[in-house]
Amino acid sequence: MEQIVLTGFMGAGKSTVGKILAKKLALPFVDIDTEIQSEHQISITEIFANLGEPAFRKLEHQMLTRALLQDAIISTGGGIILANDNRLKLEAADFVVYLKTSPDTFLSRLKGDTTRPLIQEKSKDEIIAIFEARTRLYESAAGLIVETDNLTPEEIADQIKQDFQTRKEQL
Ligand code: S3P
Repeated sequence: MEQIVLTGFMGAGKSTVGKILAKKLALPFVDIDTEIQSEHQISITEIFANLGEPAFRKLEHQMLTRALLQDAIISTGGGIILANDNRLKLEAADFVVYLKTSPDTFLSRLKGDTTRPLIQEKSKDEIIAIFEARTRLYESAAGLIVETDNLTPEEIADQIKQDFQTRKEQL
């Protein structure tokens, strides 16, 4: 399949890079969170507040399963790697890329954010602790890790495209 799944912590730039990459490879772009929100006509914040995180995770799993049926660039939410059944789906996916950002980078991007329930009213240290608890999962699910701190979204997309095409040629 022609499929690239972007993973990484909140603020890693998955959606920005995903849109650029989709254009470069002429593939559809699918953002799991956006799909959930438009299908259910409800924001992520409202899902967490009204239905709870487990309900969100269920919708996220359903949407990931559906997204993986097509050729596409797929941008995932930062918590996708938490569930074992999602990790199994990612193992079977064509190509999984972890956009690795340092705490300095994601904290500055997430400053003032009101759209991500998990970080509301959390201190910097608490947010870093969420990230650190996930690092191993992001890394082990990935076929490619891109350190994004000193790269532009365009450069990140180019790097992923090149790696993806090289792998295809070697198959
Ligand atoms: C989450 C990340 C968010 C969104 C939800 C939960 C997480 O997506 O799925 O708020 O658990 O890290 P982004 O990574 O796109 O911010």
